[in-house]
Amino acid sequence: MRTALVTGASRGIGAAIASKLTDSGCKVLAPSRVELDLASESSVEAYLASLEKPVDILVNDAGINRVAMLENIQGRDISDTLQINLLAPFRLIQFLAQQMKARNYGRIVNISSLWGVVSRGGRISYSMSKTALNGMTRSLAVELAPYNVLVNAVAPGYVMTDLTRQNNTPAEIEKISQQIPIQRLARPQEIADVVAFLCSEQNTYLVGQTIIVDGGYSCL
Ligand SMILES: NC(=O)c1ccc[n+]([C@@H]2O[C@H](COP(=O)([O-])OP(=O)(O)OC[C@H]3O[C@@H](n4cnc5c(N)ncnc54)[C@H](OP(=O)(O)O)[C@@H]3O)[C@@H](O)[C@H]2O)c1
Repeated sequence: MRTALVTGASRGIGAAIASKLTDSGCKVLAPSRVELDLASESSVEAYLASLEKPVDILVNDAGINRVAMLENIQGRDISDTLQINLLAPFRLIQFLAQQMKARNYGRIVNISSLWGVVSRGGRISYSMSKTALNGMTRSLAVELAPYNVLVNAVAPGYVMTDLTRQNNTPAEIEKISQQIPIQRLARPQEIADVVAFLCSEQNTYLVGQTIIVDGGYSCL
């Protein structure tokens, strides 16, 4: 049985990923924020030190998106976003990839965003973090593929979660739905299905990619 660590599994996309991986037969570690607070370097180190068994699959899902235009953005918005969305995922990979390399098996999926490929007003810190996450995914993929540790990213478009409801009014969500070729937002399970494939033994050759799952929005 493979062991998977999923961050951000309390709700939204992460909860759907944890549920899908459990259904696929994995033992899923889904630490709460009390057990693993990505904003705190000491919490990340303490959590890693507490792991009793090697992890085969890592999904870096947890993330924040503080919306602010250039004139209003605070330094803290940028540093917090980079810490949670980029640096903590990097540290988890740096630690866990050693075990994966030694065992010649691993699957790592970073949850990026469409705003790491294109962007939107008010998403400066978020786009910075997700674009860097995509670059990190490519670099790590090159280093780790020889050890059968396959690293990829999934970049969702608009998904119906708390994060989307927090940053868009119901009227905006309705308008966005009409702009997406598939005419609706994604359900978290639709992102989880793609992630589960990338995490599985069926994925043997997809390496270093950022897969956009956006109902065709980026094709317009
Ligand atoms: N929703 C979208 O449309 C969309 C689109 C593109 C990409 N994404 C990406 O998908 C991922 C999940 O998004 P979502 O919409 O499912 O978000 P969400 O509903 O807001 O859930 C965020 C998750 O991240 C966790 N989290 C936040 N800060 C944390 C911290 N400091 N330490 C540990 N965990 C923390 C939350 O834990 P708590 O429950 O403890 O707060 C929660 O489990 C994010 O990386 C996001 O950028 C989302």
